[in-house]
Amino acid sequence: MNFINVFENNKKWVADKLDKDENYFSNLSKGQNPELLYIGCSDSRVTAEDLMGVQPGDAFVHRNIANMVINIDLNTMSVVEYAVKHLEVKHVVVCGHYYCGGVKAAMQSADLGVLNPWLRNIRDVYRLHQDELDTITDEESRYKRLVELNVQEQCVNVIKTAVVQKAIRERDLTIHGWVFDIHTGKLIDLNIDFKEILKDIMKIYTLK
Ligand code: CO
Repeated sequence: MNFINVFENNKKWVADKLDKDENYFSNLSKGQNPELLYIGCSDSRVTAEDLMGVQPGDAFVHRNIANMVINIDLNTMSVVEYAVKHLEVKHVVVCGHYYCGGVKAAMQSADLGVLNPWLRNIRDVYRLHQDELDTITDEESRYKRLVELNVQEQCVNVIKTAVVQKAIRERDLTIHGWVFDIHTGKLIDLNIDFKEILKDIMKIYTLK
């Protein structure tokens, strides 16, 4: 990428959109009605819209380091609240990715300053699933599995919010955990069975 070209690229993009549909931007300015909230990693290689093949207006997007859903993070919580309650999205997706630097950092002991409390949440995911993870002797496989389990736990964190619980009770909101495989470019649905995962613990987190 050449930074200097960004505005040139934008001009071409505008021209391309208008070429296909002269009302493109006037329609876009009317408002948004996305079906999907996408919570992904800030990693520059893991774009949201591009890898899903969706257009402006299709996905409400939140990205942070290692696609975390932390209940005292006002940023993520505001995004979830707005997307679910006001935009009434039908799907909430947490999308992790293999070879995630945030997950890697959480598997190491380095003091990373202000990143420590953020990454601590991933260490907690490791602790929750230590029995399974410690049986995986191959380090790369363990790293990949932690990426998946982190997605699973962040989905569970989405389900712990009152606004999501209400939407699941009252309409057709569904939660999905995905992983993007950087090696192949493929998006993988982890097909997480939330009913099974939450069957013994949902009573602790239910909010009405
Ligand atoms: Co990442």
